[in-house]
Amino acid sequence: MCGIFAYKGSRDNAPEIVFEGLKKLEYRGYDSWGVTWKKNDGSISLQKQIGKISEASKEGIIDEKSHLAMSHTRWATHGGVTQKNAHPHLSSGGKVAVIHNGIIENYEEFKKRLGFERFRSETDTEVISELIEEYMKDLNFEEATKKVAKELKGRYAFIAMATGENRIIAARRGSPLILGVKEGEYFLASDIPAFLQFTRDVNYLDDEQMVVIDDKPRFYDLLTDSEIEKRLVTIDWNPQEAEKGDFDHFMLKEIMDQKETIIRAIDQNEEAILKIAEYIKNAKGVFLSGCGTGGKVCMAAEYFFSVVANRHVNFAPASEFPIYHHFLIPESLLIVVSQSGETADVLEAMHVAKEKGAKVLSLVNVQGSTVARYSDFSLLINAGPEKAVASTKAATSQLALLLLIAHAVAGKLQDGKKLLIETASQINDMLNPRFLTYIKEVADDIVHSDHTYIIGKAANYPMALEAAIKIQEVSYIHAEGFPAGELKHGPIALVSPGTPCISLIAEDEVKGDIINNTIELKARGAHIIGVAPFRHESFDHWIRVPDAGVASPIVNVIPIQLLAYYLSVLRGCNPDMPRNLAKSVTVK
Ligand code: AGP
Ligand code: GLU
Repeated sequence: MCGIFAYKGSRDNAPEIVFEGLKKLEYRGYDSWGVTWKKNDGSISLQKQIGKISEASKEGIIDEKSHLAMSHTRWATHGGVTQKNAHPHLSSGGKVAVIHNGIIENYEEFKKRLGFERFRSETDTEVISELIEEYMKDLNFEEATKKVAKELKGRYAFIAMATGENRIIAARRGSPLILGVKEGEYFLASDIPAFLQFTRDVNYLDDEQMVVIDDKPRFYDLLTDSEIEKRLVTIDWNPQEAEKGDFDHFMLKEIMDQKETIIRAIDQNEEAILKIAEYIKNAKGVFLSGCGTGGKVCMAAEYFFSVVANRHVNFAPASEFPIYHHFLIPESLLIVVSQSGETADVLEAMHVAKEKGAKVLSLVNVQGSTVARYSDFSLLINAGPEKAVASTKAATSQLALLLLIAHAVAGKLQDGKKLLIETASQINDMLNPRFLTYIKEVADDIVHSDHTYIIGKAANYPMALEAAIKIQEVSYIHAEGFPAGELKHGPIALVSPGTPCISLIAEDEVKGDIINNTIELKARGAHIIGVAPFRHESFDHWIRVPDAGVASPIVNVIPIQLLAYYLSVLRGCNPDMPRNLAKSVTVK
């Protein structure tokens, strides 16, 4: 969480570059923002405010001339959302400015050592600038920053600048940091969209690495204290894909992108898929793990592997995965699913598996992300940038790819491909203007309800949980998902006349059961929204979806993404930036 961005180069409008680029990182946090730059006399100027960078005025920044600047958009972990806690943090002597993404676990120890009176914010971050300034009494800027990076405990990506210095220094452990490179210009950011309009050539910093950007960058391994070479990678993102174009919000754009993304997800190298299938078949224990939506996708994949490939795999949310270390052996396989590839809990799960000698396969969307690079095998879902906090197109692409892999494990790769190509074309037809208008009408009907319940069975049960996440995070309506058959064991007590209940139904072997459960809800006066390929008399609203066979979770979740979107807009919320959340959760 938090977006950090710094520029050093030939252009003299560095403050404006980092101010504008920061808007592209707003999805990472939007509690407050700040910009700092080096003035001609070598001193440091600073502006910071609470609120969103997208709503900020660039007055006082746009006309400032400088070749070196940094910016930060915050998702607070330590200290409230105040101007004082906003980054950048300037040291008490005014010599060092720092921006930081992550959590410094031993910050209290440093505050105690340096004296609490020196600190002006409640953040953990401020110890970085104070420590660098303190060490600069004996060491130069580079040595001092290196010493601090080594002493910090926890996860960080930080960038520092100092008065009179013409360089920026950055280090990373656990939080992403990418260097964009262009003739005579350097861009350091948490994510590529910040500088995508300038360059696609990047160096990914790994954990325990530091970069000093002078006339050109020098990279160091902090563990061995040695200078290292880094490979320049050209990424193939298209800047337009990271824009919302004619859509009001990224969330709606990304939902509509699903007309194309399923095909892109399954367009994989067949040899690689078959190799992975072989690995799954031979592994002694296969685990699936992810967080939030990624976790619900993994849960659905448990059913895919069972139904399609007759293979038992185990799901655990990544934040709970470490406890399963008892079951891990070198022949185990962990499959992780992560859109961003930067989620701290996912990285922790991978770490636990690797410590036991197990192999890790990842499905990620962000090319070059930490999860992708830390895995033994990695597949890209190729959904293109997903900017809205709510995951939509990444989720259906992850589902499609896992369903394809399950088919490969069953020795039916081509059947899987055929099914998913057909599903992609059905989704393309489904997402028509009439469909969107109808979902908006449904949203209109239930927008004033305080509670919504969603039921599903088999692979649609995890989609009921996912539907609940979607509605909760963007509309703030209380939503809960249940396995359809569990209602009568307790939750049905929550239903009263008019309570909206969504039933996710497929043309499958459990259809009779879930229809019965839907009728039971109707008998208690629930307002039934049936998402199904067929109409049933119990439905007050029928959201018609195609019959996609075993791929039904993919088609059933899309209308709920739309419903959540419209509920959010009708309630006057911003679906792209829900309160208290951030797109990429890089803290545990
Ligand atoms: C999805 O709508 C959520 N914002 C969230 O649950 C997300 O899926 C989770 O944080 C995992 O992110 P990742 O896929 O980038 O690892
Ligand atoms: N811990 C820092 C703060 O609260 C950075 C937060 C983050 O990266 O999410 O300001």
